[in-house]
Amino acid sequence: MNVLELANITKKYGEFTAVDDVSLGIEKGAVVSLLGPSGCGKTTTLRVIAGFTSPNRGAVKISGVDVGHLRPYERNVGLVFQDYALFPHMTVAQNVAYGLRYRGTPAADIPGCVRQMLSLVRMESMQLRFPRQLSGGQQQRVALARALATDPQIVLLDEPLSALDAKLRLELRLELKEILRSVGATTIVVTHDQEEALSLGDEIVVMHNGKIVQRGSPTAIYETPADKFVAEFVGRSNWFHGLPRGECQNGVTTYITSGGLEIRTRSRFDPGGSADLCIRPEHIELVEVGAGGGDDDLKYNLLDGVVFDTAPLGADVHVVVELAEKTRLLAIRKNIGKGSRFATGQPVRARFLASDVLVF
Ligand SMILES: Nc1ncnc2c1ncn2[C@@H]1O[C@H](COP(=O)(O)OP(=O)(O)O)[C@@H](O)[C@H]1O
Ligand SMILES: [Mg+2]
Repeated sequence: MNVLELANITKKYGEFTAVDDVSLGIEKGAVVSLLGPSGCGKTTTLRVIAGFTSPNRGAVKISGVDVGHLRPYERNVGLVFQDYALFPHMTVAQNVAYGLRYRGTPAADIPGCVRQMLSLVRMESMQLRFPRQLSGGQQQRVALARALATDPQIVLLDEPLSALDAKLRLELRLELKEILRSVGATTIVVTHDQEEALSLGDEIVVMHNGKIVQRGSPTAIYETPADKFVAEFVGRSNWFHGLPRGECQNGVTTYITSGGLEIRTRSRFDPGGSADLCIRPEHIELVEVGAGGGDDDLKYNLLDGVVFDTAPLGADVHVVVELAEKTRLLAIRKNIGKGSRFATGQPVRARFLASDVLVF
């Protein structure tokens, strides 16, 4: 059974619809990333679940019970706010103990529970400090400990890592994942950062303009995006706009782009229907001009150009290839020594499978 069930939630601010008919069920123990651009309604959705905002329409059910009439502290939901919102006049230990006292945990049990929570987030040594004496990452851990202390049925994290610098964000991301797994908490992690969403969530829910546009595994979201918005928002891509030419041959439809390129796809032929074509940069191989596939091999796209720019970024090399009509293509290759190095101005052939072109 779903621990959390949102049924047709709509929240309006005046005429503006911030959350638009959102329905979502989450199973016990699942970690779901709610991903979308700033302003798409993620925080509002969390606030509705936690009971800080009442929806205009729809219901929130926790373990099958409609919690619409319950106040936030009565809902057994742990929320970590984007800015952590620690109580500034309380120590770390008092912050973590707060929810426990509020919920009537016997006083004798509180210190043990606080210790356990602080050990979970590796903050035992700082329990007497005040929030202003902590770094951003440390505050984040305390906020998490405070949210988990009451053993909530649902944990809601609003952009938990966004206030941290890039390196720390990466470290804490893994740690957060481990903590959530170890407590088995049913969790929604809100983020606008696709990498964070893909790495933290067992499942991704993509939101756009107040609506859920796709739900699926990280792989499904990346490889089979439901629409152009999802494809553009998740991952890097090369985009072309084209019109289909001729007819479908052996399951291949060829598009002619505005820049005059021919791009073969595996999509169904729709005469007169222009389409947006998307190619992920890691699907583009760079080979010698004249090499590979053969021009009549319908399986491949073979586009000749010259290397316009190359950036060795650690494990990857980002190569921008300039094709005909100054059309540029980003290819990402593994940085595996000499064979993967390219010189600016070098002629090169971009090769990618027709089946790797996403058509919208
Ligand atoms: N209290 C409010 N009053 C009016 N508009 C609001 C209020 N809270 C949020 N909004 C608007 O609702 C939309 C969604 O906000 P929010 O849920 O915070 O988005 P996100 O968390 O995805 O960035 C935004 O356009 C925001 O300006
Ligand atoms: Mg937000």
